Amino acid sequence: MKRRWIGLAAMAACAVTRIGAQQAEQGRIAYQANCASCHRPDLAGSGEAPQLAGSNFMNTWGSRPSSDLVSYMQGAMPPSNPGSLAAQTYLDLAAFILQANGKGTGTQPSEVAAALRDQTTAGRGLTVTGQVRNYTPVTDAMLRNPDPGDWLMIRRDYRASSYSPLTQVNAGNVKNLRLVWEWAMNEGGGANEPTPIVHNGIIFLANTGNIVQAIDARTGELIWENRIGPESTGAIGAMRSLALYQDKVFLATTDARLLALDARTGKIVWQTAIADPAKGYTNTSGPIVIKGKVVQGLSGCDQYKKDGCYISAYDPDTGKRIWKFDTVARENDPGGDTWGKLPDLLRAGGDTWITGSYDPDLNLTYWGVAQAKPWMRATRGSGSAKALYTSSTLALSPDTGKLGWYYQHIGGETLDLDEVFERVLVDSSDGQKLVFTIGKPGILWKLDRATGKYLGRKETIFQNVFDQFDEKTGEPRYRADILEQQTGKWIQACPSTEGGHNWQAMSYHPGTSQLIIPLSQSCLEMKGRVVDFKEGSGGTAADRRFFEMPGSNGNIGKLAAYDVKTMKENWSIQQRAPFLTAVLSTAGGVAFVGDLDRNFHAVDVKTGRELWRTRLGTAVQGFPVSFSIDGKQYIAVTTGMGGGSPRQVPLTIAPEIHHPLSGNALYVFALPDEK
Ligand code: HEC
Repeated sequence: MKRRWIGLAAMAACAVTRIGAQQAEQGRIAYQANCASCHRPDLAGSGEAPQLAGSNFMNTWGSRPSSDLVSYMQGAMPPSNPGSLAAQTYLDLAAFILQANGKGTGTQPSEVAAALRDQTTAGRGLTVTGQVRNYTPVTDAMLRNPDPGDWLMIRRDYRASSYSPLTQVNAGNVKNLRLVWEWAMNEGGGANEPTPIVHNGIIFLANTGNIVQAIDARTGELIWENRIGPESTGAIGAMRSLALYQDKVFLATTDARLLALDARTGKIVWQTAIADPAKGYTNTSGPIVIKGKVVQGLSGCDQYKKDGCYISAYDPDTGKRIWKFDTVARENDPGGDTWGKLPDLLRAGGDTWITGSYDPDLNLTYWGVAQAKPWMRATRGSGSAKALYTSSTLALSPDTGKLGWYYQHIGGETLDLDEVFERVLVDSSDGQKLVFTIGKPGILWKLDRATGKYLGRKETIFQNVFDQFDEKTGEPRYRADILEQQTGKWIQACPSTEGGHNWQAMSYHPGTSQLIIPLSQSCLEMKGRVVDFKEGSGGTAADRRFFEMPGSNGNIGKLAAYDVKTMKENWSIQQRAPFLTAVLSTAGGVAFVGDLDRNFHAVDVKTGRELWRTRLGTAVQGFPVSFSIDGKQYIAVTTGMGGGSPRQVPLTIAPEIHHPLSGNALYVFALPDEK
């Protein structure tokens, strides 16, 4: 492999200097097939995949020989299987990318972009027609107090507890679980990490490529399918969830549209643009419906553009927008003075890529906001500015979008250590109304959810980015060399962008008053780039090198339980393979979680002791759920390809973990029927 790599680089030195139109055309075809899903068809980049056309790309690669580019691509791309394409293909790809950057032929990046944009595939619409019988409209009362057999939203309830009250499957009998049916899901077209949504024995399933299906949960029979499209979407992009309300299914697409489908037939009732996808906007998680409003986040806010980033709410009957809250404070708005001297155009980030939660009594909806972009302060040019409302918890009125309170976990975040993930609502035994969250630094935060007051924290894994905390407010202080960072200089940090915690949601298990949290252990070095301060620039703009976390013994995966009152760790288990699913805990005293190495585990919520495991077709990734039909309890989980750092990091530091590079599927388990 190594030898092939050097040989190819030498070959590249002469081969790419003369860019033939035909070579670039071959490269274009290979690019569309293997690269566009992440770097976008127009090379504009998305999320962690940098733009491959334009001045930021040329700042880094323009002065280097094209053989460097070929070597890099062969050694690292596509991330799931580096070097897997033919040697000639890497040369063709370099020719295509250089041509798109105005090298070799006269074609300008904008022309290439326009030509490519036309080729993005639209969906094919309703491909399977059918009728969900016995569909009962989902009411506000059901959302507030769901039937034990249903799983009506991501993380099951408004509190985001990822907990099922079902008890048939318990710590004693879970070892008898059997596969009931399996459903192969769409391959490619994005990351597969969905939540099967279940109502009255019907599963509503988001596949990659913006495909929605209704499936009979008992038999695995397909009822309807709508291939909404676009079919080719960012491999990092995924649709983690759908929402149900009344007689509709709501889908936020990877090209930043919001759609309402007829839950019985799958037909589109209305659709509306949340934001302009040509500017990179996208969505990876679906909405939450609160008191007749469809509340939706937004992602793809990493490139410089005037429009900023926001949470918005829509009328479920018409799709009309009702309110919008800017998660990146505008120059003239409250908090607008927290971005240093940066004008609105250069305030990027503040994505809300994880669905919020809701407290009906306080009438507040809770959202995490991602970090500022580009990742590093030195690149952003924002100095020590706090950059509201990035890396914060927001409590908003679902009626008006008005800010109730905010708590910023990390001011001026600088290492892609997001605090965007689930906000879990818990009432303590002494009546405290709490909200818990945990971000990539691996710090479990406890706040008063009525006021946003800081109440405590717990470091769940090793971290070395903060060396001090204000005990009253929880405000962390970065290590001195992080504060003094410069572009072009490596900075070492634990944890890495994989996160101590990522989108794989924790579960609150009320019987043991503990949060059961999937965690990861890895570190990195990060080096900020220089970006142009102009529209379309920005992005994440940093280089990364990953390594094992000191003291982890090579164990990337950690699953641990924390008492909500004392914040003490009750138990933990560690293993080489990272956990790639949310945790599902149940009233049967079992917690379920899946990992990269294809294992789906059941553990005892009291001790973490493993009770059962089974090996599936490929990496187990998504949100496990439980539901029941006619008194029979089922456990469902997906396998999946794709994803950002949680997939990329183990590829570099645990390359011996192998799994098939296809195999997106839904698996449904239950206990055998008693004879
Ligand atoms: C699963 C998503 C994904 C796919 C598919 C993918 N890339 Fe990447 N690419 C990335 C990410 C993420 C990075 C940044 C790597 C890092 O930060 O270490 C990257 C970096 C690059 C870079 C370096 C850019 C820079 O500014 O330094 C090039 C060039 C590149 N990719 C080309 C390709 C090509 C060519 C293909 C297709 C063969 C491809 N990529 C497929 C995600 C992807």
